[in-house]
Amino acid sequence: VNLHGSVALVTGANRGIGQAFTRALLERGAARVYAGARDPGGVTVEGADPVPLDVTDPESVASAARRLRDVDLLVNNAGIARGAPLLAAPSLADARAEMEVNYFGTLAMARAFAPVLAAHGGGAIVSMLSALSFLNLPAVGSYAASKAAAWSLTNGIRTELAGQGTLVVGVHVAFVDTEMAARIDAPKVAPDEVVRQALDAVAAGTEEVLVDDTTRGIKAALPRDLELLYPDVRRQWATR
Ligand SMILES: NC(=O)c1ccc[n+]([C@@H]2O[C@H](COP(=O)([O-])OP(=O)(O)OC[C@H]3O[C@@H](n4cnc5c(N)ncnc54)[C@H](OP(=O)(O)O)[C@@H]3O)[C@@H](O)[C@H]2O)c1
Repeated sequence: VNLHGSVALVTGANRGIGQAFTRALLERGAARVYAGARDPGGVTVEGADPVPLDVTDPESVASAARRLRDVDLLVNNAGIARGAPLLAAPSLADARAEMEVNYFGTLAMARAFAPVLAAHGGGAIVSMLSALSFLNLPAVGSYAASKAAAWSLTNGIRTELAGQGTLVVGVHVAFVDTEMAARIDAPKVAPDEVVRQALDAVAAGTEEVLVDDTTRGIKAALPRDLELLYPDVRRQWATR
């Protein structure tokens, strides 16, 4: 997919990785970048077109799809992480909220924009996923489950959209230096690096991006995850 001259819509474009996507798309010659945000007044990237968009609100999603008929690249970036364990969380509220944004929000956007992308020769969808799509860490157990669901969804829509020629790119990364990971004390990837690799993949037609060594190691260990990954996770959880 040619980024030069493309028309992109980025969800959660007001900060973090979404803001980096918005800026980089303009730098790479996108003709227009719609910066979707719950508060479009918070969009700061010069040259972007702020658009009100809450991915959990069906009317907001439908209205965006009605108005933005020229989109050929959808970046499903909006996400939340509540930092909740699966069992010790006081209620299901955090788990439901994470599914609402990370899974149902992503699905709603893909459903609404699939016909728009089809009308422009197929285009592309980028899903911001995670190393935690592959591995459940119990301190963020419900977030990881929502990202696993979003990974499955990404693989599923790739199949369903193949007939209309839409490229579907899943981007997996460990910690990224944004507000979401502000309380994490560990090495973090720069948002610009995530976006550089993601947009290179769109340009090259690559379907999966494993941004960093941690993520590549986890994906490679999946066939033997119960032996290679979960014993360490359990040890760390027991001694926390
Ligand atoms: N940071 C990491 O370590 C990391 C690692 C792997 C994957 N990711 C994924 O990368 C994506 C971007 O994360 P980030 O690090 O940039 O997080 P962030 O700095 O917390 O930004 C999240 C963005 O999502 C938006 N958002 C939240 N709920 C929304 C909704 N209902 N509708 C529309 N937008 C909504 C936020 O808007 P408001 O400003 O209105 O809240 C904000 O713009 C997420 O999908 C995240 O899961 C992040």
